[in-house]
Amino acid sequence: MSEHFDVHGGARLTGEVEVVGAKNSVLKLMAAALLAEGTTTITNCPRILDVPLMADVLRSVGCHVEIDDDVVRITTPAELSHEASSGAMSKLRASVCVLGPLVGKLKKAVVALPGGDAIGSRPLDMHQNGLRKLGATSAIEHGCVVAQAEGLHGAQIWLDFPSVGATENILMAAVLAEGTTVIDNAAREPEIADIAAMLGEMGAKISGAGTSTLTVEGVAELKPTEHRVIGDRIVGATWAFAAAMTRGDVTVTGVDPHHLELVLEKLRLAGAEVTTYDGKGFRVRQPERPQSVDFVTLPYPGFATDLQPFAVALSSVSDGTSMITENVYEARFRFIEEMVRLGADARTDGHHAVVRGVEQLSSAPVWASDIRAGAGLVLAGLCADGITEVWDVFHIDRGYPHFVENLNRLGARIDRVGTSGPEGG
Ligand code: EPU
Repeated sequence: MSEHFDVHGGARLTGEVEVVGAKNSVLKLMAAALLAEGTTTITNCPRILDVPLMADVLRSVGCHVEIDDDVVRITTPAELSHEASSGAMSKLRASVCVLGPLVGKLKKAVVALPGGDAIGSRPLDMHQNGLRKLGATSAIEHGCVVAQAEGLHGAQIWLDFPSVGATENILMAAVLAEGTTVIDNAAREPEIADIAAMLGEMGAKISGAGTSTLTVEGVAELKPTEHRVIGDRIVGATWAFAAAMTRGDVTVTGVDPHHLELVLEKLRLAGAEVTTYDGKGFRVRQPERPQSVDFVTLPYPGFATDLQPFAVALSSVSDGTSMITENVYEARFRFIEEMVRLGADARTDGHHAVVRGVEQLSSAPVWASDIRAGAGLVLAGLCADGITEVWDVFHIDRGYPHFVENLNRLGARIDRVGTSGPEGG
């Protein structure tokens, strides 16, 4: 039997919530552990479904992985397999991040094509082209990316688009290549800087992390390290939107507010009083009904596509009309169909959505199509009359640790209904 959440409408969220390590960082840090023989320790890991799935991917190539509360220990053996074909590969996108480390270390890799959220087309052409520039061959064969090289050499690589995954894979292959690699139009997300920091602690020579030009001087080998994952800015922003939507007052700790500057500025424009605590967190107070604000998704430091559902959800209860433009994943507007079930006055036209705010949403059964859409529907349910059933909540469990517990502690009433879920497990 599948699970759903009963979300009781009418909550005003108040209190403090702590954010732990970022999903989109920890999964790549786990892949980076393949680059060094021995035991790498990663702390501040979130208790989400994707972490044990990634552990299975690493076990499939011969690693020993222990998950002990928020600590993940990965022991990489001297003899590593180049074939990553665990069933877990198809369940998450980040599994493809073993490609770069395997090619870097073993000069060959057979990596099953990844799964992940149904948010639009997610090709791997930039990952493959980058590896080719470093001297590897790369092809898709029988559902796998197959890459092979005699040896890897430094190269000048221009990305067509600042892809997070391609930047990570190329970076993790380049750290063990001979000579200098320059990645231009690289992704600048804080999670890329986090990976570069961990690789640096392992002995890699990388400069420019967090800018659009990454320079890597290849080294002969890396050593294991202990690294603390940065706080999850997307989870932190989720709580910020939750506060704004429910006219609440929420303090969020464990996340660097510099990673959310644009988001917090948008909430100020919507009428929120925002206080930031350097490097530690922020507080969002929303005294009145939010005012409508426009949003445009772009790679960091633009407004994250992962936050687009929350922008739509906020706009749906704001005073006025908002235009939301999606520039990264075309299928993310699927979320709007579910919002319309909840009484949102919203329609899409290509990359744009127009949302006219209503005073109150109206409860209905709705279906989560990905992690963020699921969380967005729960926040919308808090602003509806009656009880909103949110189905397919396994998506939410992939990305949000203790989602229901955190919201209930802030004053929401949400019941998990059905078989006991993985949350906290
Ligand atoms: N793209 C290509 N070719 C490539 C790679 C990407 O055309 O070779 C395109 C994609 O189709 C997309 C754009 O480039 O239009 C951006 O994709 P990117 O590679 O940056 O995304 P990703 O690495 O696959 C990560 C996050 C996503 C997040 C995006 C954008 C992980 C595991 N996933 O995906 O997070 O939306 O960056 O910021 O890091 C989520 O957490 O809910 C989530 C979906």
